[in-house]
Amino acid sequence: MADIELRNVRKAFINFVALEDLNLRIEDGEFVALLGPSGCGKSTTLRMLAGLEFPTDGEIRIGGKVVNDVAPGKRDIAMVFQSYALYPHMTVAQNIAYPLKKRGVDKAERDRKVERAAALLHLEPLLSRKPKQLSGGQQQRVALGRALVREPEVFLLDEPLSNLDAKLRSYMRIELIELHRQLGKTMVYVTHDQLEAMTMAHRIAVMNGGKLQQFDTPDAIYNRPANLFVADFIGTPSMNLMEGSLSGSNFTVGGQSVTIDRSRLKPETTDGAAVLGVRPEDIMLGDGTIDAVVELVENTGHEKIVALAVKGCDRILARAPSGSAITVGEAVKIGFDQTKTHLFEKDGEGRRLNLDQDHNSLP
Ligand SMILES: Nc1ncnc2c1ncn2[C@@H]1O[C@H](COP(=O)(O)OP(=O)(O)OP(=O)(O)O)[C@@H](O)[C@H]1O
Ligand SMILES: [Mg+2]
Repeated sequence: MADIELRNVRKAFINFVALEDLNLRIEDGEFVALLGPSGCGKSTTLRMLAGLEFPTDGEIRIGGKVVNDVAPGKRDIAMVFQSYALYPHMTVAQNIAYPLKKRGVDKAERDRKVERAAALLHLEPLLSRKPKQLSGGQQQRVALGRALVREPEVFLLDEPLSNLDAKLRSYMRIELIELHRQLGKTMVYVTHDQLEAMTMAHRIAVMNGGKLQQFDTPDAIYNRPANLFVADFIGTPSMNLMEGSLSGSNFTVGGQSVTIDRSRLKPETTDGAAVLGVRPEDIMLGDGTIDAVVELVENTGHEKIVALAVKGCDRILARAPSGSAITVGEAVKIGFDQTKTHLFEKDGEGRRLNLDQDHNSLP
């Protein structure tokens, strides 16, 4: 069993607090992504799981045992770093076999394990090459192979695809999902790429400024963001966030009013300043009561992203089908899909004010 638990973990460097009161429970065999902007504490969290960094406060458990003081080599984990260093003078096969050789595993067994890893990672034709004769993606797979042969209970991956081009990244994403399915081991995957997190992970831990913002399924993170940070961070283009004022069932922004389904809000929600969130796909162009003017139309090929000027708020982005005839300068009425709007506190932590009765994410 290799479930992982962080309890009230805090990490302070000499003059900087990198993590505050982090609580996470990762199930055995689960694929969890740690997602957040640069400097939010993702690598620090992973390095503490690996035993390369020690928590200032709190407890880390792997498989139920407290590992705060357990050396990296004694934790049943393998870590793949963002900048993977292969041994340049060794072949692919020797690179992959290296951890086994160090452990004193005999030649026949080493060969067998290297063969299996090479098959999983489609490296068979490359086994006798040296690293410099490989593409970046192939080198990346060798680094993964070296982690695989150790057969750990937990894989810790720190931005393992960041050095690859877009096409190879999407190929490797699928390969890693398949690998996880085959191995069934716990994987903790650090990334600042939301697409990677959304497509690969069972659950995503969204972090910002050393604090956990939300830990939930990709579906819940997208459809029920817990606060303004998550709402803004997840989704491309981002969710439109409009500051305004709530009064009964009306939300007023820049002198224009939209109707809010009050039954979808937490009963304790009070009237006053709030932030309305609407994803670009939930904006109805030409169907609503809000006056807008088309400022820009960006054709991505499969759709159009329409930038709209609305009095009293920042530019609003909407998605339109690629065949849409909308033109720059045009005045349009817009509306919001009432079942999909989000409301947040304007102040404090910007917490979500919607009642999510349809909440079906894991505990
Ligand atoms: N040894 C250290 N001493 C002081 N501060 C540190 C140390 N290591 C990390 N930090 C700080 O802790 C914060 C978190 O760093 P961390 O490496 O965990 O970020 P990250 O989320 O992995 O970012 P990135 O996406 O850029 O890799 C950063 O502000 C960093 O500068
Ligand atoms: Mg990092």
